[in-house]
Amino acid sequence: MSEKKISVAVFDAKPYDIAFFTAVNNKYEYDLRFFEFHLNPDTAPVANGFDVVCAFVNDKIDAKTVDILHKNNIKLITMRCAGYNNLDLEALMNKIHVTRVPAYSPYSVAEHAASLLLSLTRKIPQAFNRTRNGNFMLNGLTGRDLHGRTIGIVGTGKIGKIMANITAGFGMQTLAFDVFPDEIWANEKNVRYVNKEELFTQSDVITLHCPLTPETRHFVDEKSIALMKNDAVIINTGRGGLIDSKALVHALKHKTIGGAALDVYEEEEKYFFEDWSAEVIEDDLLARLMTFPNVIITAHQAFLTQDALTAIAETTFENIRQYFAGENLTNEICYHCGANQISCSKVKNGRCF
Ligand code: NAI
Repeated sequence: MSEKKISVAVFDAKPYDIAFFTAVNNKYEYDLRFFEFHLNPDTAPVANGFDVVCAFVNDKIDAKTVDILHKNNIKLITMRCAGYNNLDLEALMNKIHVTRVPAYSPYSVAEHAASLLLSLTRKIPQAFNRTRNGNFMLNGLTGRDLHGRTIGIVGTGKIGKIMANITAGFGMQTLAFDVFPDEIWANEKNVRYVNKEELFTQSDVITLHCPLTPETRHFVDEKSIALMKNDAVIINTGRGGLIDSKALVHALKHKTIGGAALDVYEEEEKYFFEDWSAEVIEDDLLARLMTFPNVIITAHQAFLTQDALTAIAETTFENIRQYFAGENLTNEICYHCGANQISCSKVKNGRCF
């Protein structure tokens, strides 16, 4: 008799997830079941009978969901993303192991952030719409050089550092803010770490590459926006909650900042990854953001490259293999801080809980 395959319930599965997971699964041969809907307390019972749950950024893994999954004997949740802000870590502790994909292609995100920056400063969406309609006028399309201007990078981890390399290529000066500054890298790359206030005051571009935590929630708020230059722009490919959207809309309306390019939005869960083109958008802040000529929104797309999707599938499947082989879980998250347990400062006896 053939051995029973490890079964995996994949939530919030889109066609591109299905395509890349299926292709990479040739090597692993898991029993994959794809569900289009999000994981939340209403859908969690679907996981009954599966060995593993695979979830994504907008799945709701709160205490209720955890309780249902635990009762259904799920031992492993494998997140196919880097962020962990949608997990109730306290509820998960000692119940369900959680792995994530801490790095897939940091280039995918940094390159998207750079695309957003150029699109915003050179008004590419407006130019594209015009020429498609046969309007070849340039009035109103005046942009700004990036060369010689200052970028403030918040979070100089994998993505932030690549963004710094890219924008240094444009000839920008780099300021950075991080709770764990990497001084050796900064010296090498001519980057200057500054405090939050100086970063907001001095930068022409602010780009967010830190995780969303209670400390970083609304990192960009009314107070920090008040410090910014009136023509400075914000790029957010981190997490929506890093920006207080109400404060952002207020600043855009009163022209106290130059613009924003957002790949993430505070309340994106309901809208992003879905087609709302024939529906009424009830979120007034999102609807208002969509009206500004100096705002570009992409729907959490920064990770979406062939390279990143392949790497995500490979690491996710490897996380599952390690769990069932009884090996150390390289990418298991810490229930206290969300970091990788292996590198967590609280690690004792190989575990940080
Ligand atoms: P990373 O862990 O390599 O770097 C994060 C950096 O942020 C670290 O240097 C850390 O010290 C710093 N940091 C932590 N707390 C901070 C604080 N309070 N203030 C300032 N800096 C702080 O992470 P990576 O891979 O560079 O990703 C960064 C973020 O990008 C992720 O947390 C995720 O939320 C977001 N992301 C977005 C994607 C998208 O498709 N839009 C895809 C992948 C990641």
